[in-house]
Amino acid sequence: MKFYTLKNEQKLPAIGLGTWKSAPGEVGKAVIEALKAGYRHIDCAATYGNEAEVGEALKTAFAQGIVERQDIWVTSKLWNNAHESDKVIPALEKTLTDLQLNYLDLYLIHWPVAFKADVNFATKANEFLTPDEAPIIDTWKKMEEAYEGGLAKSIGVSNFSIQKLKDLMVDATHQPEVNQVELHPLLQQNELLEFCNNNSIIITGYSPLGSGDRATSMKKDNEPSLLNNKIIKEIANDHNCTSAQVLIAWHLSRGTAVIPKSTNPQRIKQNYESYEIELTDSDLEKIAAMDKNYRYVDGTFFEVAGGPYKNIYDE
Ligand code: A2P
Repeated sequence: MKFYTLKNEQKLPAIGLGTWKSAPGEVGKAVIEALKAGYRHIDCAATYGNEAEVGEALKTAFAQGIVERQDIWVTSKLWNNAHESDKVIPALEKTLTDLQLNYLDLYLIHWPVAFKADVNFATKANEFLTPDEAPIIDTWKKMEEAYEGGLAKSIGVSNFSIQKLKDLMVDATHQPEVNQVELHPLLQQNELLEFCNNNSIIITGYSPLGSGDRATSMKKDNEPSLLNNKIIKEIANDHNCTSAQVLIAWHLSRGTAVIPKSTNPQRIKQNYESYEIELTDSDLEKIAAMDKNYRYVDGTFFEVAGGPYKNIYDE
């Protein structure tokens, strides 16, 4: 298994199990299957609504001796309605209670967007907090407090652009270790990757397979398919593997971590085994040419008329 060593010497396993969209009644089994298959990294978030079931599965896995706590990496994320200073640590503590853990390996600010505390998903301007009302640096200071207190062994961010990272880094005491963003051959984010490499920030890629199981309301018309992409299929054919495995192996070839979601035992195993696939220079050149800055999860749902976020990626 491949690991990335962070600035603080913590070792992030390169392939993790994604749990976004994993249904109740399925996610716990998926976690157990993944740990049995060799995964040592589980990616969670409060807003996925399934951390309690993940926690039950982890408890079972520890009790059955499948893994020990110190051998696995558990990530979770602070939801947008808990950015205010007095809400950050309580939100982390709730996640720890749900996961039945006493520390996280990594805690991330899920989006650079703040909602009012009683709002689950802001759709109107008055449901957001402005950057003046909830400055991201104040949220980060609480993340640092969680880090210093040992509740999170590493801290980072998610969905941050280069500009947003720069703004945070100027005032941060502990620099972010990880930025988790959407990443796949149709959205290669080369500038962001270079910036993160230069600043020793590891990128974790989400939606690596194109997130085909998102709710229809979240999908755009005629979304391109990654799994059925002709170039990816040809490369998979050459390696006698699946398209999903090519997509996952591509991350490892670029030094990014990756969190494919599956609740299917065969696919969970197959995805993990991608680390055995070595893409050739010619494969990588073909994939490099696929970039078209296409986002499946584009964050425009936060760009509400009259709201504080004109463009959450760059401003
Ligand atoms: P399932 O959970 O039934 O396996 P992403 O990680 O980009 O969000 O993509 C998740 C989607 O990809 C889910 O619909 C998941 O379905 C599917 N998926 C996961 N692994 C594979 C695989 N190896 N082959 C095909 N589809 C997969």
